[in-house]
Amino acid sequence: MSVVAIAPSNIALVKYWGKRDAARQWPANDSLSMTLTAARTETRATIVDSGEDELVYGGKLLTPESKEAARVMRHLDLLRRETGASAHLRIETQNTFPSAAGIASSASGFAALTLAGTAALLEAPDLAQLADRGFTRSRLASLARLGSGSACRSLFGGYVLWEAGTAPERQDVRPILAPEAFPLADLIVVLQAEEKRVSSSEAHRHAWTSPLFGPRLAGLPERLKRIEAALAAGDFERLGIEIEHEALEMHAVIMTAEPPVRYLETATVELCAWLREERARGSFEAYFTIDAGPNVHVLCRPRDAAAVSAKIQARFGAGVRSILQDQIGEGVSLASHPVEDLPS
Ligand code: PMV
Repeated sequence: MSVVAIAPSNIALVKYWGKRDAARQWPANDSLSMTLTAARTETRATIVDSGEDELVYGGKLLTPESKEAARVMRHLDLLRRETGASAHLRIETQNTFPSAAGIASSASGFAALTLAGTAALLEAPDLAQLADRGFTRSRLASLARLGSGSACRSLFGGYVLWEAGTAPERQDVRPILAPEAFPLADLIVVLQAEEKRVSSSEAHRHAWTSPLFGPRLAGLPERLKRIEAALAAGDFERLGIEIEHEALEMHAVIMTAEPPVRYLETATVELCAWLREERARGSFEAYFTIDAGPNVHVLCRPRDAAAVSAKIQARFGAGVRSILQDQIGEGVSLASHPVEDLPS
């Protein structure tokens, strides 16, 4: 049997930044994200007899020594410990977004790997059977989190809350609003495609050194309440203004940490400033958020997505590498195939 898991990426509206316990992936704060649709990872897991795990990424077999393969294989060891299974797996994985787009793939990647790997090891072909065997979405989310923090939110659809809780084992991830209750598009504006110089895992560690980190943590519970209230009320303006401040606040922490890191490029800041000007002028209603990189996520109503995208393209031309039109979505899916039925 071979299983194929599909997991979307997610964009955080309240960012997870800084960890209280890195080994157990216990975040410093609660975070809230919107699960996407088009930006996703597809991962096939097949049991092999070779006695070794194999990783094929984007059609290429990676050597076990490579950084990516080592991280994946450590995660498969964890899944074997959790399931009690001993089999080795061939993992074939690819992203639907261009890997050179500079969009983090660890959230969708570890969500898909956790789902496909667990399903193959347990020979459980769908989500219902996985849950019957004790691997509910919540448990899968906890496992995905150990691969990459933000991956835990990709197990669910719509708007997803990751609560830090009072202890590492008391964390909770759950959907708080369905996609259709507040449909939004996400225009992922790729300004720079190169790999980031400082990984988010490294920058997370320095969060505590920023003098702005304490005030950020103190203000976040109220911020989260305001964002949840805006979502519940369907108030896009309130939501948009809050998420812009929130993203800039995270970047202020990153830039004032020791050592300081700057993910924002000139083009990033120019695009955000222009978006605010156009909004004030009444050209359209759209708001930005920015992850740990230079690219900008522009959130707008789905009916406005094509027009906003065209205006960004017209204003910034060649400065924009690409714009990926994405939207809120349903979360992971799992399918199983007999090995011989798989497309080559
Ligand atoms: O999951 P990580 O370790 O790559 O951290 C992700 C951090 C942000 O993307 C910047 C924010 C978030 O909550 O997704």
